[in-house]
Amino acid sequence: MDKMWAGRFQKNLDSAADDFNSSIRFDSRMYWQDIQGSMAHAAMLGAQGIISQADADAIIAGLEGIRADLDSGALAFDMAAEDIHMFVEAELTKRIGDVGKRLHTARSRNDQVALDIRLYLRDETNGLIGQLKELLCALADKAEAHKSAIMPGYTHMQRAQPVTFGHHLMAYAMMFARDISRMKDALKRMNESPLGCCALAGTTYKTDRMAVARALGFDGIALNSLDGVADRDFGVELLAAYALTMTHLSRFSEEIVLWASWEFKFVELDDAYATGSSIMPQKKNPDMAELVRGKTGRVYGDLMALLTVLKGLPLAYNKDMQEDKEALFDAIDTLKMCLNVFTPMIATMQALEGNMRRAASNGFINATDCADYLVKKGMPFRSAYKITGQLVAECIEKHTTLEELPLDAYRAHSELFDEDLYDAIRLETCVAKRISEGGTGLASVEKQIAFIRSII
Ligand code: ARG
Repeated sequence: MDKMWAGRFQKNLDSAADDFNSSIRFDSRMYWQDIQGSMAHAAMLGAQGIISQADADAIIAGLEGIRADLDSGALAFDMAAEDIHMFVEAELTKRIGDVGKRLHTARSRNDQVALDIRLYLRDETNGLIGQLKELLCALADKAEAHKSAIMPGYTHMQRAQPVTFGHHLMAYAMMFARDISRMKDALKRMNESPLGCCALAGTTYKTDRMAVARALGFDGIALNSLDGVADRDFGVELLAAYALTMTHLSRFSEEIVLWASWEFKFVELDDAYATGSSIMPQKKNPDMAELVRGKTGRVYGDLMALLTVLKGLPLAYNKDMQEDKEALFDAIDTLKMCLNVFTPMIATMQALEGNMRRAASNGFINATDCADYLVKKGMPFRSAYKITGQLVAECIEKHTTLEELPLDAYRAHSELFDEDLYDAIRLETCVAKRISEGGTGLASVEKQIAFIRSII
């Protein structure tokens, strides 16, 4: 097939080189954005009198037809085309004749692809934000249902202090809320139209870049034409936001895996989100959570891939930049798939409050509260801490708990201990008394849930 740019050449492109060079295999997924951009461009060319209004109308109608046929499947992508931009333009000329050849006036594939990828990322990231909001909604509902369920809070994977399951879930909700805000922040910075930067230096035609930008929902235009076509920093920012979202999903997944084990049994996954073993009949595996944890690596790889593609590239466009797409697409596909199963897995998972409560009863997680009891009676914290440590050691030796240790054993360490100690170290009291802002006390957890609900 003759290339659009064949005029200058004596020979056809070698067929392996042609395959190597072509990006239609993956950039065809941006056809909607490519056509949307071309329509806005053609409208501007007509309005500015760069081409006739009749030609502009014919081009726009032709593009609409191509889009409808691609949507319905009546038209297939030509895998011999160099990329989506060439494919659409060739198809347009096939359909409307020479008028189609006027579309590429005052434009280059360089600003075209820089536009398409921005439009595509904007659409897809808005979709991801919607999915994250669904996850926040599921978390808020779960947290509401278990806002008083006591479980051990951990540091170093050692039982530390009691928290509620609702509080624990809300911690993840805060992380996902920041992920949304990071994505929105990156979208805002990206929302400048590169169309009209042309190949690298702008154009001699009297274009109206602002009109095109407005028609396409941009807040403004790239002010430097070299920058407009040559940077993909917005892609890096979004990939970093996607990667962090995966970090949060993978930490959560790790906890789901632990909680679903017989050692913990804090949760029971719904059968629809767990799998069996081919040999061990008793198994119920948390594959979804494990896969989310595993797929995190791919998204980190995508971020590193794009950073490395951009490193050291001279201005302006270089073909290396064609490599931006697969990394971005893979990250988007991966995150989309993960959220698609993660959210319903969380929504359907059963929290086993009794098991959480039992785990919280062992491990002396009320020891801090025992020390605080003495402090509130006037003892300096460091002394109270020391006495409580000795009491814990005594309990371990006698195979008992702080709740069951008799009062005279306490009083042997300090006269400040009294009957009211037992109420002070009840786990319910420990949680209820954590009234500091952001703490695990009920009012704080309710406030957190209300905040999350206010942003979805
Ligand atoms: N397929 C190319 C890409 O994805 C489109 C831009 C090509 N520009 C060029 N000057 N060869 O980057």
